Amino acid sequence: VGMLISTFGFAMLVRQGNAAGAGGRTVLKLGHGLDQNHPVHRAIVFMAERVREKSGGSVEVQVFPNGQLGSETESLEQLQRGALAMTKTSTAPLESFVPEMAIFGVPYAFRDADHCWQVLHGEIGHELLDAASAHGLKGLCYYDAGARSFYTLNTPINEPKDLRGLKIRVQQSRTSMEMAQALGASPTPVDFGELYTALQSRMVDGAENNLPSFFSSRHFEVCKHYALNEHTRVPDVLLVSKKVWDRLSPEIQGWLQEAPDESSEYQRELWREEDQLALAEVQQKGVSVTHPDRSKFADLVGPMHQSLTGTPVGELLRRIKEEH
Ligand code: GCU
Repeated sequence: VGMLISTFGFAMLVRQGNAAGAGGRTVLKLGHGLDQNHPVHRAIVFMAERVREKSGGSVEVQVFPNGQLGSETESLEQLQRGALAMTKTSTAPLESFVPEMAIFGVPYAFRDADHCWQVLHGEIGHELLDAASAHGLKGLCYYDAGARSFYTLNTPINEPKDLRGLKIRVQQSRTSMEMAQALGASPTPVDFGELYTALQSRMVDGAENNLPSFFSSRHFEVCKHYALNEHTRVPDVLLVSKKVWDRLSPEIQGWLQEAPDESSEYQRELWREEDQLALAEVQQKGVSVTHPDRSKFADLVGPMHQSLTGTPVGELLRRIKEEH
């Protein structure tokens, strides 16, 4: 006999099994904003599959891509309320919920990808995932989101002065606004799901993101210049609602930590392949991909870095710079 316990709204559906006290089924809904071809979506599907295997089918993670369940900010709010079980967001919108996450929006905080992953897998990475717990969110793992660079409709960006007067779409985060301003652009926040239309209608002159997102969002159809200046390394994070988590059995909690960890490793391999593939694909579709002198951009961020001195994010920046 099926019984419905809707303790967490639509977040969980628990059906009682046949054997006394055993065999319950748990369904966890997961919403995110990326396309089904994106390497992060594919890693999430891998994670859901691992959860199914580990639990012998008793736990199902249902994945809803393309912002079907709401924007990243809306999804985070739903997690806090326990109305949605899981989400994957960029750390940028997350900084309005977990202020320390702003560190990833600080341009040229990391030397390169290895430095960034050393930090994510080290003490700081763990501290930041743990910091989410005080805000109703439990951080499970990071996914690689490479480096973000500028892309524009028809203005090539060779140096920061080329950004002057251009309206550049940024993520919903104060640090993203400050980053774009520091580099000379006029930042305009737009939801990721509305960005294609905003570019097409010339509401903004360009945006910034990693290559796999530029490719899978099809923004390359309207933006013909991509400048690999690599100003930030803003990772993606997989999260579960703290309200939902606290009601799961220790056994399920264990699976929900192992499967994300495994998927994160898998995703980094996938990322390397997809990053190369996206580069080749967009060039083949007529996008001019250039390698501007990064130091010209990095030279401009000193005042922004200094302005953080004495703040918790400034302290993280200091520790990150000290890591070798
Ligand atoms: C990346 C990230 C997304 C985010 C997007 C954005 O693609 O993976 O989570 O929504 O950037 O620019 O908003």
